[in-house]
Amino acid sequence: MALLRKNMRASILCLVGGASMVLAGVQNYNPTGQGCLDPDGFLSCYAKQVDLVTSCATGCTASNVAGSQALKTCLTGCNGAQLAGNLGCWVQSCWNQLYSCENQLATISYFDGNDLIQNPNIFPWFPPPSDAVDGACSCNLGYVEGNKTIFLATPNFNQPCENVASRGNPAATAECACCEFSFPVSNILNICPTSDLSVLGMSAYIEHTQGLISASGDACAILNDGNQDSCLNTYGYRFRGDKVFNPLSLPSGIPGSDPLTNNPGNAFTDFGASAYTLNLFPGFSSTITPVPFNAKAGAATGTVSAAAVATGTESATQIATGTVARGSSAAGTATSSATGTAAATTSKSAAGGRNGVNEGLALAAVMLLASYNMFSNL
Ligand SMILES: *[C@@H]1O[C@H](CO)[C@@H](O)[C@H](O)[C@H]1NC(C)=O
Repeated sequence: MALLRKNMRASILCLVGGASMVLAGVQNYNPTGQGCLDPDGFLSCYAKQVDLVTSCATGCTASNVAGSQALKTCLTGCNGAQLAGNLGCWVQSCWNQLYSCENQLATISYFDGNDLIQNPNIFPWFPPPSDAVDGACSCNLGYVEGNKTIFLATPNFNQPCENVASRGNPAATAECACCEFSFPVSNILNICPTSDLSVLGMSAYIEHTQGLISASGDACAILNDGNQDSCLNTYGYRFRGDKVFNPLSLPSGIPGSDPLTNNPGNAFTDFGASAYTLNLFPGFSSTITPVPFNAKAGAATGTVSAAAVATGTESATQIATGTVARGSSAAGTATSSATGTAAATTSKSAAGGRNGVNEGLALAAVMLLASYNMFSNL
């Protein structure tokens, strides 16, 4: 089920900018709890989420017809709740490392696995602020992902080029596309020019972008002055960073291959509250007691490699094949009942500003149509 949904989504997303994720998602990106205030508590919390998702899946299987859409929806809800529960573990036991690469990957997985568009109102530590230093990842992965998915998050992003296309000037349309589609790539390369971003599928994303702008007769010469002036003055595309990159002719060594690492230290040394209620789609709600700060935590947590992240897909697979059948617990039942469609819909609207799968796909479809129209005019 998860696989089917993922594939469907991936094939749609890759048409709008290669935004499909490569993260499997449910695994613990910090498998030893390194740097956490309470590594043992962190690990047992992650383990508990596995138990919960297992009993959740068992509940789904018991109450839905095999192979039915309802069963798939139910299992998807379990998976989404596990991803949310994992974030709860960070808030409880590793809040000093909420800006780490590992937490950022867990958070991106949460958004991706729930078909939500990244939104800082949902998980307040994400993306980290641009001035985060202590305990922060060497690259702000939230900004990377936010830019990769900007076409989904910004419905009218395509409008200027659609307007150009409607005037029937193929060269201008192609040139406008250079500005539009290089925008997220440039933003990303402005933040993390030398980081190895393979964990977020960056090379596929760049390749896809190159395809989208390949109709340009002059290889996107409009980008070659390296700043936003031409794009801004001609088509109204304002870039975020200082430098504009031409995806058709990137400087050598960019994007780079520097491993993602965490700065030493703690993002926070004081949680600021004795309890924290985390409400997350789909139907995850937990009042968390963050562990006290202790000065022993906050060691540098080493590097995060794409290979390490790519493994650990076992949970979703086990659910899909039903090979894990642990006994259900009271807590598991509660999770299970909260993950159905009804619960998911309620919490989605209650959360405000979230974009679930339908809106996301609708936007994707609009984008897709728009880019097809744009290029069929050429
Ligand atoms: C895109 O990247 C820029 C940095 O170049 C950052 O300021 C901005 O917040 C990112 N956008 C999103 C939506 O994450």
